[in-house]
Amino acid sequence: MAATPKVLVLNGPNLNMLGLREPAVYGRTTLKEIEEACVADGKRLGLAVTCHQSNHEGELVTWIQQARGTAGGIVINPGAYTHTSIAIHDALAAVELPTIEVHLSNIHKRESFRHLSYVSKVATGVIAGLGVQGYLLALLALAERLNPTTEA
Ligand code: DQA
Repeated sequence: MAATPKVLVLNGPNLNMLGLREPAVYGRTTLKEIEEACVADGKRLGLAVTCHQSNHEGELVTWIQQARGTAGGIVINPGAYTHTSIAIHDALAAVELPTIEVHLSNIHKRESFRHLSYVSKVATGVIAGLGVQGYLLALLALAERLNPTTEA
C-alpha cells in the first residue's frame, strides 16, 4: 500500500487569535478547531496533516523549507505576511510543492493593501472568503493531486 502523503497546514501572524479576533470578519471558530477539522478531514482524504502557527516570518520560512522532501503539499494562510513577505514567496518557490493559499476573508473585497499577494504568485491555487471551509477545500484539492483516487 502507498504511504499516506503528508500535508503541512501553516497559519501566520494573529491567526492564533481566531475566535476572539474581529469575529465579524474572521468568524468565531478558533485556530484549534480549524486544526482539528484539518486533521480529521485529512484522515478521511488519506492525508497525514500536521499543523503549525507562528507570528514570526522566519519560523514560517523554516517550516516551508523543511517540507521539501518530507511533505507532499502545503496549505498556507500567511495572514498579513501574504501582502509583504518576499521571504515566504521565495521559500515556497524553492520547495516546489503543490501549495494552496487560503484566506478566511475575501481579501479582494477589503482594503486595497490586502489585494496584493506575493504568495499567490507561487501558489498552485488560492481560496479566499469561504471561512473555515477554505482549509477543507484546500485539503481536497491536494488530496486529488497526491491521492489520485480520492473523491470528495
Ligand atoms: C487573512 C487576510 C489577511 O489580510 C489578514 O492580514 C489576516 C487574515 C484571512 O485569513 O482572511 O491576518 O489572511
